Amino acid sequence: MAFPTLHARAEAKFLEHRSALTPTTARKLLDAGYPVLVERSSKDPNYARIFKDDEFEQAGATLIPEGSWESAPTDRIIIGLKELPEAETPLSHTFVHFAHCYKQQGGWESVLARFPRGGGTLYDLEFLQDSTGRRVAAFGYHAGFVGAALAIKTWAWQLTHPNGEPLPGLETFTDGRGYYNNEDELIAQLKDDVAEGAKVAGHKPSSLVLGALGRCGSGAVDLLEKVGCPEIKKWDLPETKDRDGPYPEIIESDIFVNCIYLSQPIPPFVNLESLKSPNRKLSVVCDVSCDTTNPHNPIPIYSVNTTFDKPTVPVPVEGDGPRLSVISIDHLPSALPRESSEAFSSALLPSLLALKDRDSAPVWQGAEKLFHEKVSTLPGGVPKKET
Ligand SMILES: NC(=O)c1ccc[n+]([C@@H]2O[C@H](COP(=O)([O-])OP(=O)(O)OC[C@H]3O[C@@H](n4cnc5c(N)ncnc54)[C@H](O)[C@@H]3O)[C@@H](O)[C@H]2O)c1
Repeated sequence: MAFPTLHARAEAKFLEHRSALTPTTARKLLDAGYPVLVERSSKDPNYARIFKDDEFEQAGATLIPEGSWESAPTDRIIIGLKELPEAETPLSHTFVHFAHCYKQQGGWESVLARFPRGGGTLYDLEFLQDSTGRRVAAFGYHAGFVGAALAIKTWAWQLTHPNGEPLPGLETFTDGRGYYNNEDELIAQLKDDVAEGAKVAGHKPSSLVLGALGRCGSGAVDLLEKVGCPEIKKWDLPETKDRDGPYPEIIESDIFVNCIYLSQPIPPFVNLESLKSPNRKLSVVCDVSCDTTNPHNPIPIYSVNTTFDKPTVPVPVEGDGPRLSVISIDHLPSALPRESSEAFSSALLPSLLALKDRDSAPVWQGAEKLFHEKVSTLPGGVPKKET
């Protein structure tokens, strides 16, 4: 098959700065023979891509106007990260992005119906799998990395603000942006935070990461090691399989980062009763897994998701122990858009390189099969293609 033209669209989601294609992966696709067109990033800072237009130009990509995908020839493959702007117009291209319409999310029918109505196809990024059934690209590593970072910031903030003031929004620490330009900026700031906190506490924070062998968990462990907090309990299934929670080791750590993949009901890792322990040191929980509304949430000490502009929620605790805050943000990688996009895009690259053979490549065949299965579940049957 000939090389299809890849058209990377500008994101249209508020505060989304990440990108499915990066200058690095665009270069590799160009080198392999793919024509790569990249829409100019929005000039609105709330929608601006972390990678500047110049960076794509220097990588050899051709820059085209923002939003030009809508009138582009239909043989282009339109690559984005998050969902398209809400509309009713039929879609006639092949799209690669997270559409959030396969799990019957609110409004899924009209989002999904736009593709068959226009003769288009959706390859949903969330469901791209290799031949072993593992997702080819996910954002987990940087979710854990940022989650552990916010936990460190909260720990230090609590110690340096004993009046009970909660950690302010991320814009306070990032010159109003609400995200870090790069990992170095984040790590340098956290090293200062740890030093300030340690002056008050007399020690660096101890932490327990649960699910430490997974994507999110390994990111959390790496962050803690990079900022120089080596007292980390790295737990995964071997540590929990023969013992039910609540676990005293969690209560006796300063920071708990939960990164497990919850696939079945399990006893809580920590609950309000266990927090009454006189040995409690725990003052920050970052629930990266965010099974907040799941009836089997293994951290039943809070019930709301938090946000980057209000990152923590307090937990009422009895006794003389420290105050306790929970972080439960469900889009953590957005705080580190450069590195999280690079990691995601490079994991996606082998699949993108196979787009010219997509009629035989298992990853795209699987995605197309799933698309047709989902379309066939639309109420009222598969919509007719509109002319
Ligand atoms: N908050 C965010 O921004 C964000 C972003 C990405 C993913 N997530 C969520 O994070 C969770 C983890 O994702 P992942 O990609 O790292 O999954 P993963 O499958 O790579 O890792 C999960 C790990 O948890 C371990 N585990 C499962 N049950 C356990 C138990 N009872 N005790 C100890 N260890 C256990 C597994 O062995 C595995 O190592 C998912 O729920 C995912 O939806 C959140």
